[in-house]
Amino acid sequence: MIIYLNGEFVPEAQARVSVFDRGFLFGDGIYEVIPVFGGHPLRLTEHLERLERSLAEVRIDNPHDRTGWKGLFMTLLEKNPGGDRSLYVQVTRGVARRDHAFPSGVRPTVFAMVNPIAPPNPAVLEQGVAAVVIADHRWSRCDIKAITLLPNVLARQEALDSGATEAILIRQGLATEGAASNLFAVGDGVIVTPPKDRSLLPGITRDLVLELAQDAGLPVMESAIPEQSLRAAEEIWLTSSTREILPVTRLDGRPVGAGVPGPVWRRLHGLYQDYKARLREGV
Ligand code: PDD
Repeated sequence: MIIYLNGEFVPEAQARVSVFDRGFLFGDGIYEVIPVFGGHPLRLTEHLERLERSLAEVRIDNPHDRTGWKGLFMTLLEKNPGGDRSLYVQVTRGVARRDHAFPSGVRPTVFAMVNPIAPPNPAVLEQGVAAVVIADHRWSRCDIKAITLLPNVLARQEALDSGATEAILIRQGLATEGAASNLFAVGDGVIVTPPKDRSLLPGITRDLVLELAQDAGLPVMESAIPEQSLRAAEEIWLTSSTREILPVTRLDGRPVGAGVPGPVWRRLHGLYQDYKARLREGV
């Protein structure tokens, strides 16, 4: 694998970061994950906007303009040929002696890599996945795509330890999102997802799913999902750049709706696949 690190494209074994990097010491950095189909990044402008916003919110100088980021990503993709892939890019505040306060005159560390995206698993599309409900222990700025992901890591592992695929997080009685995904529920035929606020990441897949549903004339609503409504939902889905739209068919061991991926999910999954196919063809 060829890695981008601070202006250079190098084999992964040569990509080295100092132990004094603030990403390592403090989790002081932000990241972005961009899916790429047929060589075409999905919603690149929206991902770059979110990257810019994350940097501004944590007060790290943006090391590149949009043309610079695009050039860097396209070169990295060329150097790592493959099928469907995701770009991972991380920017930390840089390398300095350990002190909580911002160091002065330090250059941000910029790291990017490419990973394969597995195609949706047919068994998962057939049967859906299990999820568990757990308390949201994260901070109050979940709208920033920060690399500081310890509560997300613990939540995901708790889900796996109980035989589930993802954790759905509850904050003050409301279901916010998954450990690394946004949340949708279907109730009375209406597609509901929580509104964007500081309790969740403004997912690019989330916005695309909302747009595809609206374009198809399906009823959608951005509204809080109380835990009881989640447990009574006809369908539950989790969305992310790497897992697309994942149907949840068991919640805390109980079936969701009929216990199989539902008709509204099937419709949206189809629309998402069509969108990807058009992107691959460069339409
Ligand atoms: N995670 N919420 C959280 C907490 C996430 O970490 C993610 C994505 C999402 C979905 O956002 P998007 O649709 O833009 O991928 C929501 C990425 C994929 C990750 O951390 O690997």
